[in-house]
Amino acid sequence: MVLVSGSGSNLQVLHNAEVAGQLGEGKISLVVSDRPDVYALQRAKAYGLAACTEQPDKKLPAGEARRELSGRILRIAKDNGIDIIVLAGFLSILTGELLEQYSGRIINLHPSLLPKFGGEGMYGERVHRAVLQAGETESGCTVHFVDEGTDTGTILLQRKVPVQKDDTPASLAKRVQEQEHIAIVQAVKTLTCNLATKNTTNS
Ligand code: GAR
Repeated sequence: MVLVSGSGSNLQVLHNAEVAGQLGEGKISLVVSDRPDVYALQRAKAYGLAACTEQPDKKLPAGEARRELSGRILRIAKDNGIDIIVLAGFLSILTGELLEQYSGRIINLHPSLLPKFGGEGMYGERVHRAVLQAGETESGCTVHFVDEGTDTGTILLQRKVPVQKDDTPASLAKRVQEQEHIAIVQAVKTLTCNLATKNTTNS
């Protein structure tokens, strides 16, 4: 299951990898967006992927809204027999039972070399702007397991890029995105292989 909030370019590379047989047993069986009008949903439709929108309940206080949305996503995952959850640009923060039940099977993609430039409110171009303001000489992307913190879970893999003197947030984002598209496929491949091995050992 792939969770999205934006353009869905990472959904696209995962779909392409699946079609090319690069995800092993991995199959994208469902796409969930927390926003109704995002391009990722159009991509899902174009690829013939089942998709739905689950928005946070704005009437609830933030913490409760997170718990309630996480509960809905857990139910959907269970109902659809989902093994692995991939946050590919998903901007709602998840919590509780979902993270417990999918511990080690829920990953997030982040556009910086965590633990640097992570945490609440750090997403998209804001991250690259902060990297440039800090005068970093390298940046990159991270795929990590999701835990109760924001961008704090165990790191599965990172890919680095140089920061160039004349970089803008947009030019840096483009360089990082190229690495994200490699990283997300590598990470999902690793997870699906690990799961397949575990299932074989247990059977
Ligand atoms: C990606 O750059 C991802 O790292 C970022 O959102 C983008 C989604 O792109 N995620 C975060 O910033 C999470 N904190 P996409 O919609 O084209 O796949």
